Amino acid sequence: TGYFTYDPGFTATASCQSAISYIDGDKGVLLHRGYPIDELAEHSDYMEVCYLLLNGELPTAEQKAGFVDTVTRHTMLHDQMNYFFRGFRRDAHPMAIMVGVVGAMSAFYHDSTDVDDPHQRMVASYRLVAKMPTIAAWAYKYSIGQPFIYPKNDLSYSERFLDMMFAVPAESYRVDPVLAKAMDRILILHADHEQNASTSTVRLAGSSGANPFACIAAGIASLWGPAHGGANEAVLRMLNEIGTVDRVDECVKRAKDKDDPFRLMGFGHRVYKNYDPRAKVMQQTCHEVLDQLGIKDDPLLEIAMKLEKVALEDDYFVDKKLYPNVDFYSGIILKAMGFPMEMFTVLFALARTVGWVAQWNEMIQDPHQKIGRPRQLYTGPAQHPYVPIHKRD
Ligand code: CMC
Repeated sequence: TGYFTYDPGFTATASCQSAISYIDGDKGVLLHRGYPIDELAEHSDYMEVCYLLLNGELPTAEQKAGFVDTVTRHTMLHDQMNYFFRGFRRDAHPMAIMVGVVGAMSAFYHDSTDVDDPHQRMVASYRLVAKMPTIAAWAYKYSIGQPFIYPKNDLSYSERFLDMMFAVPAESYRVDPVLAKAMDRILILHADHEQNASTSTVRLAGSSGANPFACIAAGIASLWGPAHGGANEAVLRMLNEIGTVDRVDECVKRAKDKDDPFRLMGFGHRVYKNYDPRAKVMQQTCHEVLDQLGIKDDPLLEIAMKLEKVALEDDYFVDKKLYPNVDFYSGIILKAMGFPMEMFTVLFALARTVGWVAQWNEMIQDPHQKIGRPRQLYTGPAQHPYVPIHKRD
């Protein structure tokens, strides 16, 4: 009994108050703590954006140096975690490894799990931001049978990640600064995004006072799906499947057919009813990366650009206000940089960790914070007596 608002997918429910990210979906605006995402992508770097999201304001030079120093001190994993990786099948999807290893951090770092202690919360936050690149890169190295590369703390955050991904002990490897800059920008573009499915999952899991590492593992699980972070992998699979520019029209036709479950991956968004501001920066970065790598006339990019053009002129997509989202171009860039498709969503998780952590911290400190406990509209049978098994038909 009881009357509740029925709001499947929470399209009309504000689950919390938040001062972290702001989206104006009609105008295609995204602000982090008031700063437009395109300005942050152009002028800032990921460490600075992390500080901004966690602390509410851009750092001074001294604050930034202190923050980078602290994060850098936490990049190593507990050596015992080595064995945890080794328990997985080599062909495990790296997102499965991420869910497992990040969840397992709750068993390795007991000194940062008391959610009522601000110091412990801060240490958990630093650990998560610092260790995600190491965990992500090791998930990849494990899958290809190469030795783990330990974090080199004289490199920047993004350089260090690329080094752990692509360096091989037997060969010399130097991170290309243009690619490191592109990586940093990709991380900025994914750093936070209001109350999306994975962030809401982290908040809901954390609302019971649960272990922070386990909460972030829950966020990773939610992100994995193709309607959320898994879309970047799905976009590339779709572009590969389309194969040639002349098959684009056929694909758009399928996406419009209501009897066909096929959707144009990387298109549409719950909140943006205009161009996703992150997609614009991503498109520009895509061209820069391909230029830097000397990749001319990339067939996938050609298909993507044609797809975008056709869809943006098509009544179905115009009427429903479906525009390219952040995932539309990111896969092409990541592929060009040498990332296998299975790692795309892992990169999203890596970048979004700071957002999850900032939102989790905000929730814990919110005086209105309560355990998340939605109600339901019951549609099952009315009460009736138990029927003994010998009397059932
Ligand atoms: N291709 C074809 N039709 C679409 C698409 C699409 N990509 N997206 C939405 N529609 C149609 C949908 O069929 C529906 O039509 P109708 O009103 O006639 O039933 C209408 O547009 C509204 O769609 P919805 O599914 O009710 O909207 P939603 O807010 O629940 O879903 C979405 C948003 C992102 C899940 C959806 O647009 C989608 O599945 N897109 C493809 C997957 C994707 O790119 N996801 C990444 C999102 S951005 C990164 C992130 O947040 O993780």
